[in-house]
Amino acid sequence: MIVLIGSDHGGFELKERLKVELAKREDVEIKDFGIYSLETADYPDIAFKVAEEVAKDPNKRGILICGSGLGMSIAANKVNGIYAARCTDTYCAKVASKDNNANIITLGGRVVGIELATDIVNTWLDTPFEGGRHQRRLNKIANYERSHKIEEGNFHIINHPLIQHKLSIIRDKNTGTKEFRELVGEIASLMVYEITRDLSTEEREVETPIGPAKTRVISGKKLVLIPILRAGLGMTESVLRLIPNARVGHIGIYRDPKTLQPVEYYCKLPPDVEEREFFILDPMLATGGSAAYAATLLKKHGAKNIKIVCVIAAPEGVKKVQEIHPDVEIFTAALDSHLNDHGYIVPGLGDAGDRIFGTK
Ligand code: RB5
Repeated sequence: MIVLIGSDHGGFELKERLKVELAKREDVEIKDFGIYSLETADYPDIAFKVAEEVAKDPNKRGILICGSGLGMSIAANKVNGIYAARCTDTYCAKVASKDNNANIITLGGRVVGIELATDIVNTWLDTPFEGGRHQRRLNKIANYERSHKIEEGNFHIINHPLIQHKLSIIRDKNTGTKEFRELVGEIASLMVYEITRDLSTEEREVETPIGPAKTRVISGKKLVLIPILRAGLGMTESVLRLIPNARVGHIGIYRDPKTLQPVEYYCKLPPDVEEREFFILDPMLATGGSAAYAATLLKKHGAKNIKIVCVIAAPEGVKKVQEIHPDVEIFTAALDSHLNDHGYIVPGLGDAGDRIFGTK
């Protein structure tokens, strides 16, 4: 097992001594993330470095030591996927593994001596996670973490109150087709309003009735909306009202019933693809199959700047797009729990296409 260890100045001495003790274990490979001398350091810097590495790899664990163990645990627990437990005795060390499956423990260099610290770390490393009801509780924490995640790499949740309010109405199964369709459009345009914040602008001089004024207008080639058929059409018109000069590209994809692979049957894009920004529109990012395929197609035609705009995303779909297209930004109004066996987002809002077009 790989154990990453880090400290600030308050935990430096204990870290150095613990390294010697842990070197006696053959099943542990220690990686020291600093600090490397007794200079003053800010514990969040070390906590984030260790925590981010541990969060990426289930085979890694971390030990973080500051003066009290408190700052390190507070900082490490800010990192998604980290379950950091501050331990001051072997009982807590045992429970941290058995019940909490803690992937990091934090210690106070001014709280525990080397003997107790060694016992704590060994107990934590040697106690297996019990699973069962404890897993159920950890799932609740993971679900909360997932649904409240706002930004991660190229993934963004736009949780503006107006968007969230409208989203709660369209989730309601009693909302009818007309209202549903209008609200999907409103949400899409509010989202695009936020997403286009960083469009580049250039200076222009206009004559007001009073005299000349220096103003700013959007520069560059017109951006392109790519609605994924058919539900994406429900977002297009209202976004066009916001950006009337946007171009609309169409990509038709169907799933081959034998191979289950996506097959392109139609593709019409504006010229100068390389210089334009593309917005793939689809209310639901479920498996991520269509959105990822649309991005692949756009790239084949030379597109370099692609964003996906969806109303609700499932973690499975986000993961798929991120794996295939780490450069494509994903914007959603909500990240839901998971996909059910039929590929529907849970809790989601049902079939967006059917609800927009009243086909069910
Ligand atoms: C540093 O003096 C001290 O605040 C730090 O080591 C830690 O105890 C913070 O929680």
